[in-house]
Amino acid sequence: MYASRSRPRNMKTITLLVLFACINFISTESEDGFLKGHLKPLGGHRPPDVPIDETDIPPHPRTFWEKYVKHGKPLILRGAMKHSPGFNLWTTQYLKEKYGDLEVRLEGKIEKASNIPIGAKSFGRDTIANFINTYQSENKYIVSQLPTAMYPEVMVPPTMQCGTFKDSLVEIDIWMSSGNSKSALHKDAFNTWNCLVSGTKQWKMVENKYEPLIYRSWEPEAQIGGFSLINVSSVDMIKHPNIAKVRWSNFTITAGDCLYLPRSYYHQVTSFGDPNIAVALLFSRMTDFDDTGCDNAELKYTPLSDMIVTWNWSGHGTMTMGHADHRAVKEQLLKAAESYGRVTVQNLAEETLLIDPEKTFNEALREMITPFEILDKEGKGYLSREDILNLDIYIA
Ligand SMILES: *[C@@H]1O[C@H](CO)[C@@H](O)[C@H](O)[C@H]1NC(C)=O
Ligand SMILES: *[C@@H]1O[C@H](CO)[C@@H](O)[C@H](O)[C@H]1NC(C)=O
Ligand SMILES: *[C@@H]1O[C@H](CO)[C@@H](O)[C@H](O)[C@H]1NC(C)=O
Repeated sequence: MYASRSRPRNMKTITLLVLFACINFISTESEDGFLKGHLKPLGGHRPPDVPIDETDIPPHPRTFWEKYVKHGKPLILRGAMKHSPGFNLWTTQYLKEKYGDLEVRLEGKIEKASNIPIGAKSFGRDTIANFINTYQSENKYIVSQLPTAMYPEVMVPPTMQCGTFKDSLVEIDIWMSSGNSKSALHKDAFNTWNCLVSGTKQWKMVENKYEPLIYRSWEPEAQIGGFSLINVSSVDMIKHPNIAKVRWSNFTITAGDCLYLPRSYYHQVTSFGDPNIAVALLFSRMTDFDDTGCDNAELKYTPLSDMIVTWNWSGHGTMTMGHADHRAVKEQLLKAAESYGRVTVQNLAEETLLIDPEKTFNEALREMITPFEILDKEGKGYLSREDILNLDIYIA
């Protein structure tokens, strides 16, 4: 009675064995490297083997320049954010009560993966109080300049307190979400200290030299920004085979740590923990380090409110996020002076178009108006070579 059933049962077993054999065959093939990491999150293609230095002792500014910034090499500075009052104070309740009426810039929570150009994200404004009431249910996050009222609660590491670093801060940003957000693999223009106040962030990083292998999207900010078209949650190794050759780094940043993220270094960040709050200190893309004053400087954690920041945000009015660095503008101006004699805002827009032909003239002009007005202190409408050389590039 049972024997008559045993046959189909055996057949089934055989079919299953054949299926398993096929599955084994496929996974053996990927072990060999051909499709390793296919449809896996970024990094499945090979083990992470580019080590990132880490320390809990802030390096001297000269060391920081010589070993890290000069070479565009990252550094993890564990515990550095714990020196900031904000590290303990910034609960959602506190932020709402103390800073609730200040405005911040929002982005919708979408995965910046393939085919979604960065320009297509939805931007918005919110008060901090309304954001805190609604961010979880409405899936939105803050990517904004940090309001200056919050500067006293953020400490800048001693590493930034002399020489060229001291006055190099360009912009201070705040990132806040309910976690579980995932960025594209992308790079940013500025050097950055990325300091985590709460939550954790998992970082995957790729050196700029691998750019030819990462299927970069050709964005307007062609020269310094940029992002990879791969889907970081599921890398298609058939469509994007060169990824197999990319070496990478993998590490986790926990609340209280800071990461030095060099300019133009590719990174993909996954954030966990609610609230996930980070402060980013953007500083100049410098090509030299002048250590004047470093021998006698008192190197200590210093509140942001005691430092010069080129572009700051009061929490109301026009946000200057993403504005150019004056130091870079000055170099650009001197070059322009060579070809135009006197430099006008129109000349600057023309220069911008040479770098970025996809912009319209009016877009380029609009971008240049504010920096130009600040530089043209007497309001003459032009800058001579002498004017440019005499410019005090730091706004007082
Ligand atoms: C913000 O920048 C303006 C203009 O440069 C400056 O006058 C002001 O002191 C800065 N505020 C803070 C808090 O740094
Ligand atoms: C990326 O891959 C994930 C996981 O397979 C998928 O859910 C998501 O839709 C993909 N994103 C895009 C933009 O294709
Ligand atoms: C990357 O690092 C995290 C912890 O920092 C770990 O959980 C994960 O397994 C690592 N991934 C790889 C592929 O090594």
